[in-house]
Amino acid sequence: MQMEKLVSLCKRRGFLFQSSEIYGGLQGFWDYGPLGVELKRNVKDAWWRDMVNAHDELTAPAGAPAAYEMTGLDCSIIMHPQVWKCSGHYDLFHDYMVDCRESRKRYRHDQVRGRWVEAKDQRIFVTTMASAEDEQDSIQAKALKFFNLRAKHAEQLKWDGGIVTLPEVDDASKVLGPDAKSLDTLTEPREFNLMFKTTIGALGGEEDTAFLRPETAQGIFVNFKNVLDSSRIKIPFGIAQIGKSFRNEITPRNFTFRSREFEQMEIEFFCHPDTSHEWYQYWRDRRMKWYTDMGLAGERLRLREHDPDELSHYSTGTADIEYAFPFLPEGEFGELEGIAHRGDFDLRSHMEGKLDEKSKPLEVQLGADGKPKYRGSGKDLSYFDDDVWERDKEKLGLRSFKEYVKQNKDAAQPGAPYQYIPHVIEPSAGADRATLAFLCESYDEDEAPDEKGKMQTRTVMRFHPRLAPIKAAVFPLVKKDGMPDVAKQVYRDLKSHFNVFYDEKGAVGRRYRRQDEIGTPFCITVDGQTMDDTTVTVRDRDTLEQWRIKIDDLVEDLRPRLV
Ligand code: GAP
Repeated sequence: MQMEKLVSLCKRRGFLFQSSEIYGGLQGFWDYGPLGVELKRNVKDAWWRDMVNAHDELTAPAGAPAAYEMTGLDCSIIMHPQVWKCSGHYDLFHDYMVDCRESRKRYRHDQVRGRWVEAKDQRIFVTTMASAEDEQDSIQAKALKFFNLRAKHAEQLKWDGGIVTLPEVDDASKVLGPDAKSLDTLTEPREFNLMFKTTIGALGGEEDTAFLRPETAQGIFVNFKNVLDSSRIKIPFGIAQIGKSFRNEITPRNFTFRSREFEQMEIEFFCHPDTSHEWYQYWRDRRMKWYTDMGLAGERLRLREHDPDELSHYSTGTADIEYAFPFLPEGEFGELEGIAHRGDFDLRSHMEGKLDEKSKPLEVQLGADGKPKYRGSGKDLSYFDDDVWERDKEKLGLRSFKEYVKQNKDAAQPGAPYQYIPHVIEPSAGADRATLAFLCESYDEDEAPDEKGKMQTRTVMRFHPRLAPIKAAVFPLVKKDGMPDVAKQVYRDLKSHFNVFYDEKGAVGRRYRRQDEIGTPFCITVDGQTMDDTTVTVRDRDTLEQWRIKIDDLVEDLRPRLV
């Protein structure tokens, strides 16, 4: 599938628009149009329903070590600045950028790609920011210009190796920047923190600086105790959140894939340290299954476990669910979701002060004065398992938990195994990336007969029915003989059950095409026979099969087909 075709369909049919387009757009920001908002809402609703509301808390699902509970939160975007200091985002959340002294443009170091080429006794590294399918053409055009050669003399360019990224190049003096005319205009790579800054209140001093959250996860960690205290939830349990996150990406690109404002769908799953690896495996497989259930099957989707040397030492596993987006070079995959075993790093950092992620065992990171570099909340974020304590206390011959802690005061964790800091498994997905993957996967072109029976190419979005923005379209075959009135009544009857659409404009074949192009799974047509026997035809978008059904049975016929 060519990406331009999808991008053009998204704009033409109202899935996605560039933000502030009438002012020339704003890089890294996107608006969802009338159909896009339905699609993305369906993605988020399916995730929330499958992960939270429809989760059966009484039964251990296949592959899970036990039954578990799920609940949700909706936290503020701006949080106390100390949150980002303890989470590590203040110090560590950066990418490397390079600036071009000639064009004044800024690039993410690892996203500049190029190729070594030699001509006229000079060997240079020509770079580009063009998309994967255009990068060789772009590099060649720049090389010809640099060497002052015409296109017909392209054979004078001697290529050396394939396309590689800038971090793989050790001699900066030979690099021709993506928008430069001369060599050696790129600066050394420098760190660039990705958090957007803002100011709280009217005074606007340094102490009023706050940040737009770069992930939704931290809102869950800092509310862990609130959730425990305000509900009867017990470990193991997960807290889910869907919401906006912001990252000042140096080079936003590839449609919505890397945006500066995007939505995340995150779960922080809290469990006992002893079972955390089993829970990690469960969540990795459960999340992969969700994407396949929603239609991302096949070789374009993969689960990639990180190598042990890529893991932080407090983690026993991280996996990415990746999709072969069509804008990526052949054989490359882009991350849809990460599933990480995070140990007790986050809860302890918010409790004791930011931990040094390199220390083993984890210790609070100290500043030059020997005090914690970033102070934690000082609140106790441990979990007390009173069920297990009640079960064991008689056996231990003890009356209170205090007594137990006193007896064990010299142990590393005097309250263990009854009181402990839970370990966390974090399945963290992007709602926009998932939506983009569903758009890419759904796009198809095939042949279908027009109203004269002649085969015509049709564009069809094969969305899973749960994700389709419109579930069914209702048409009168012709605009006469009472058919529009009956069709409008069918539309009204269905509207309270599903998102349906009424259309009476143009030939019925054209109406089918319009619905195929936006992925409507079913088209319902009121025709001459309807007026005699109150049946309508239902047409399936994918199989093109048609069947007749009584109007009164439509809801019950469609319902199971839409789940
Ligand atoms: N709490 C963990 C976390 O935020 P992440 O891998 O940085 O982990 C999780 O982000 C997911 O959020 C990614 O897998 C991706 O789907 C989405 N995401 C991250 N940055 C994004 C961006 N700039 N644009 C769109 N989606 C993004």
